[in-house]
Amino acid sequence: MTTLAKYLNTDAHDPALIDVITTVTEVGKTISQLLKKGALADILGEAGNQNVQGEEQKKLDVLANDLLLDALATNSHCAGVASEELDDATPANADGSLLVLFDPLDGSSNIDINMAVGTIFSILPYQRQGHMSENSDFLQAGNKQLAAGYLLYGTSTVLALTIADNVVMFSLDPDTGDYVLIEDNVQIDADTSEYAINASNYRHWRAPMQQYIDELIAGKTGVRGRDFNTRWVAAMVGDVHRILCRGGLFTYPFDTKDPNKAGKLRLMYEANPMSLLIERAGGAATDAVNRILEVEPTEIHQRVPVVLGSKNEVNYVADLHVKHADQ
Ligand code: AHG
Ligand code: MN
Ligand code: MN
Repeated sequence: MTTLAKYLNTDAHDPALIDVITTVTEVGKTISQLLKKGALADILGEAGNQNVQGEEQKKLDVLANDLLLDALATNSHCAGVASEELDDATPANADGSLLVLFDPLDGSSNIDINMAVGTIFSILPYQRQGHMSENSDFLQAGNKQLAAGYLLYGTSTVLALTIADNVVMFSLDPDTGDYVLIEDNVQIDADTSEYAINASNYRHWRAPMQQYIDELIAGKTGVRGRDFNTRWVAAMVGDVHRILCRGGLFTYPFDTKDPNKAGKLRLMYEANPMSLLIERAGGAATDAVNRILEVEPTEIHQRVPVVLGSKNEVNYVADLHVKHADQ
């Protein structure tokens, strides 16, 4: 049996990185416990305020955020944190070598209905050790990430992690409190017949995305010549986990529903960490055309269209967008 502690504690991994990942995953155990108690822990429902993006915060969004923030603030390797639920990045220890970004609770709309939610995290290098970190320190492209992962609080709690080019999965043993390795070197098939999209936004998509989904729905009777199947967890963390387990395509594409938002998902603490996991597992991740990991961020909370998963399918979407670039 390989525990997370045993897996991480090798000379191949930077001790600072090991320590920060350990802090995040320890908090994950607490969040997992709270979720198990559900209504009994008085954690469901609205917190009564909005985050910087104008979204209603759930009690658990705030709680998970505070737990991560408090734990990371006292980690000597952590120079600062940025979160979906914080307007600005919060400096931590000036001598730290790492910056941590997170979506403390992904899939908030699932909390109150007892469905899967998760925590997504991304770890970047800190370049100005000795100085207090600022927002601008976090604005690094996704290909600079040193490690990334998520905790999925589903029927069991699973950790997916990428560090040193490898993607690994651990399951939290509720009896011992250990994360136990369940899959080493996760790889995704290049082809798939399963896709995830919130189709209620169809009328707001660009023409190439509408054409793509039309083709999938036409199945055997259309140009693709085979049937496709839809799945939508309403928590990216759940959809990405399914893709790491059995392939598939996930997209939250560009839409014109809100002209200020280029897609719904946030680049720095949703799209980037998931893209790193997916690419290292042999998949692909784009904004429909370009690699997400190469996007140079200008704001901590910036949004990006996302198309990720099985490589051939992600490339098929990119080809359609290039062919119909005028639409
Ligand atoms: P969050 O709960 O952190 O705001 O993120 C929810 C995101 C993502 O996880 C999911 O794929 C998507 O929103 C669901 O969107 P719809 O409500 O449009 O289905
Ligand atoms: Mn989210
Ligand atoms: Mn969230």
